[in-house]
Amino acid sequence: MAQEMKIPVILDGDPGHDDAIAWTIAHASSRLDILAVTTCAGNQTIEKTTYNALRVCALIGLKAPVAKGCPKPLLTEPMNAPSVHGESGLDGPPLPEPAFEAEPVGAVELMARVIRACDRKVTIVPTGPLTNVAALLMAHPELKQRIERISLMGGGLAHGNWTPAAEFNILVDPEAAKIVFESGIPILMAGLDVTEKALVTPADFERIRAQGSAVSDVVWQWLEFFYKFHRTLGYEGAPMHDPCAVMALIHPELFTMKDYYVQVETLGDYCKGTTVADWNGILGKAPNATCLMDVDRDAFADRLVELIDRYREVSA
Ligand code: RIB
Ligand code: CA
Repeated sequence: MAQEMKIPVILDGDPGHDDAIAWTIAHASSRLDILAVTTCAGNQTIEKTTYNALRVCALIGLKAPVAKGCPKPLLTEPMNAPSVHGESGLDGPPLPEPAFEAEPVGAVELMARVIRACDRKVTIVPTGPLTNVAALLMAHPELKQRIERISLMGGGLAHGNWTPAAEFNILVDPEAAKIVFESGIPILMAGLDVTEKALVTPADFERIRAQGSAVSDVVWQWLEFFYKFHRTLGYEGAPMHDPCAVMALIHPELFTMKDYYVQVETLGDYCKGTTVADWNGILGKAPNATCLMDVDRDAFADRLVELIDRYREVSA
């Protein structure tokens, strides 16, 4: 069978435990070619998420260029999530120091450079607030045609997790999310509808812990830290929000997907940051997003464990 072409991607996130796990499986996958890593403010400040991004790259041996993104949302004041990810944004196991420095250019410039230089359309994988992606589309509208699609973690068609109506990534920068969802670029949306079902359980943590590599030793502890917060909310495992945005590209067969026209609410006292699906086509608009609605949890966990196990071979 012909070797499948790798998907050229840019990873944009706010590591964050689940961003870090998403990047770890992305780097382990043979289906992705990571052209660049860009950081956004969200789980923690841009300084902390950029430092964390460089440390994650050092841990997993990812040598793609890393660039610091926008320090705050387009219009609103920054919001962070220390209750979930800790003061560092990636509390828990010790991590190596960065193996290299961030690029001297910002995230938007690095994104533009790698998109222009790539001989194929690039897929962007945002797993934090969409500030950088919106800024890229505003600064370089001509590059829209060079972007294959945006596989993002964000939103939720039935409920939120930071307010009753809004999911954190969208709520932090709703104006940016509106720009992205209205851009015309195909969107693969891993919202809470699916990510809260993509649970990795303590039994799965043990499968990873047993692998005994330098990477697996960190990953199981990230999972355990992330689960500690979510257990208080009644979750039976750690919800793999951000890894869903990667898994949807490398193992789409795990998911049930539906195409909807999705709008982002940017106003409102109670519903700001809500992603609203036109369930019945009332607006008569063509869908702008393929929404992940369900997942084969057992298979998802198996694929994630297998991808982490690839680091055993590397460190052997
Ligand atoms: O709501 C979940 C999202 O918010 C994830 O991307 C997590 O990392 C946090 O950024
Ligand atoms: Ca994130």
